[in-house]
Amino acid sequence: MSEKNIYKPIKYKLDKVVEETSLIKTFFISAKEEFEFKTGQFVEVTIDGIGEAPYTPSSSPYVKDKMEITIMKAGYVTDKMHQLKGGETLGIRGPFGKGYPIEDFYGKEVLILGGGVGLAPLRCLILTLLGEEDKFKKINICFGAKTPADFIYKDWYDELRKHKNVELLRSVDKADGSWQETEGLVTVLLEKVDINYKEAVAVVCGPPIMMKFGTFRLLEMGVKEENIYLSMEKNMSCGLGKCGHCAMGDYFVCKDGPVFTYNEIKDYPDIWI
Ligand SMILES: Cc1cc2nc3c(=O)[nH]c(=O)nc-3n(C[C@H](O)[C@H](O)[C@H](O)COP(=O)(O)OP(=O)(O)OC[C@H]3O[C@@H](n4cnc5c(N)ncnc54)[C@H](O)[C@@H]3O)c2cc1C
Ligand code: FES
Repeated sequence: MSEKNIYKPIKYKLDKVVEETSLIKTFFISAKEEFEFKTGQFVEVTIDGIGEAPYTPSSSPYVKDKMEITIMKAGYVTDKMHQLKGGETLGIRGPFGKGYPIEDFYGKEVLILGGGVGLAPLRCLILTLLGEEDKFKKINICFGAKTPADFIYKDWYDELRKHKNVELLRSVDKADGSWQETEGLVTVLLEKVDINYKEAVAVVCGPPIMMKFGTFRLLEMGVKEENIYLSMEKNMSCGLGKCGHCAMGDYFVCKDGPVFTYNEIKDYPDIWI
């Protein structure tokens, strides 16, 4: 592939928009130009005349002419994104950051702990792992949501459970009459996973409070600090390590992250906000 110009947005067509929950939508986009990224990297998406914001693709990096991005309504730009219906043009810059070091996961049990819209980057990670499923000892997935209706990707879970190397556990904070799985905070699932925590790698993504208590529980269960991978969402602007908006201690999250191991960042204040 020729050297990529990360300053220049590629024009993508918004093919369709699917409502996942009342606050979260998935945007299906396609481009004539191929777009390469590694799982865990992020892109800057521009709506002309409105603004730009960073998101992690939720689709597979093996697919290069289409991309899916799942976005929670959080403020001005994301609200404008949610008003799009399909047929519009979006600009995409990137990819930025380092992503997950998948090769370091080979031969190991991988535990994925996710909640809320954090399932979006994790979907991309899981689709990547499934592309070479036999290279991992096992893929254990623990997903949580507030209620059953708050789970995004509702059609995906049955498909995931068909993979021989995948164990999927789900919990909701508040169940309804139809819920057959666990009730409780997502961390309760960690007691149920059949895994050797001392040798496993763990990936955590979700709301800051979940990332904090999820990480602490994983440490108690015996996961090594250097084997816990966190995807950090700091305010970003340039995405290029130039403006300083995303500084966290010695790091620029946009360039040195957004994926870090817990031992790399644990001593910095405010990593959970
Ligand atoms: C690397 C990275 C990947 C991301 N991936 C996704 C994703 O896949 N899906 C998704 O829904 N969201 C994702 N986000 C968060 C998303 O970028 C913010 O929700 C968005 O920028 C908010 O813009 P806004 O104008 O709608 O909100 P604003 O009005 O600017 O702010 C609304 C709220 O969001 C917070 N916020 C604003 N900008 C950011 C930011 N860049 N990062 C974190 N919080 C922010 C503000 O502090 C405020 O509390 C990601 C953020 C980063 C840094
Ligand atoms: S976003 Fe500008 S330095 Fe990271």
